[in-house]
Amino acid sequence: LSASFAKAKTTLKVAVEPTYPPFELLGENNEIDGFDVDLFKAIAQASDFEIAFVTMQFDGMIPALQAKTVDAAIAAMTITAERQKVVDFSRPYFRSGLAIAIKADNTEITSLESLQNKKVAVQIGTTGAAEAAKIPGAKISTFDSSPLVLQELINGNVDAAINDAAVTLYAIKENNLKSIKIINQLLTEEYYGIPTPKGSPYLNDINKGLAIILGNGTYNRLYRKWFNA
Ligand code: ARG
Repeated sequence: LSASFAKAKTTLKVAVEPTYPPFELLGENNEIDGFDVDLFKAIAQASDFEIAFVTMQFDGMIPALQAKTVDAAIAAMTITAERQKVVDFSRPYFRSGLAIAIKADNTEITSLESLQNKKVAVQIGTTGAAEAAKIPGAKISTFDSSPLVLQELINGNVDAAINDAAVTLYAIKENNLKSIKIINQLLTEEYYGIPTPKGSPYLNDINKGLAIILGNGTYNRLYRKWFNA
C-alpha cells in the first residue's frame, strides 16, 4: 500500500480578528500572524489536522461558533461563565487581565472607582466592555477593534480605555506611544481559551495538541518570540 491511501487531514475553520497584536495581527505581507496564530498552527501540527483561518470581527465570533460556520476561534478570548453557556473552551492557554489606559499626564484617574462619570472607550463584545458597563455614570463608547479604542484615547475624545493589559502595553511599546500609559493595578484576572461550538468533535484534539506543545517547549518558544521574555 502506498502513502496515497493515507486519509486526508481534517481542515478546521478557525476565526481570527487580526487587529489584536501581539495575539493576532497582519504581518508584512498581509499574512495572518501573532502568538495565537502560531499557537494554533503548532496545535494543529501536534494533533495532525489542518487549519484555514477566517477573518471576522470579535463580536461575530460567538454567533459564528453557535451557528457552526467556524470550528473554532483563536482571539485572545477570555473564558467566561457567560460564554461557556453557549460555547465550549479548551483548557486555558494564557493568563491575562484588564488594564485602564489613560493619558500620560492624567493624575486624576487612578482606579476603576475614579472612572465614575468619565468617558471610557472599549471594544464591542469584550470583557473590557462588560467591565466598563459596571462603572456608575460612565459614558461608554464602543469600537469594532482595539486600535480604534486606543486612538480615541490618544485623540483625547475619552478619559480612559479598558482593554487587555498585554495588548495595550504592546501597542504603547511597538508604536512608541508617549501620550498614553496604563494604570499598573489590573482590574481582573482572566484566562484565554480556544472556543469551539458546544459538543465539538475537535475540542479533544485541540486540548491534546495544546498539552503536547506545553510539554515539549513549543509553547515557551512562541511565548519568548512574541513577548520577548
Ligand atoms: N480578552 C478579551 C475578551 O475575551 C478581549 C479579547 C479581544 N480579542 C480580539 N481579538 N479583539 O473579551
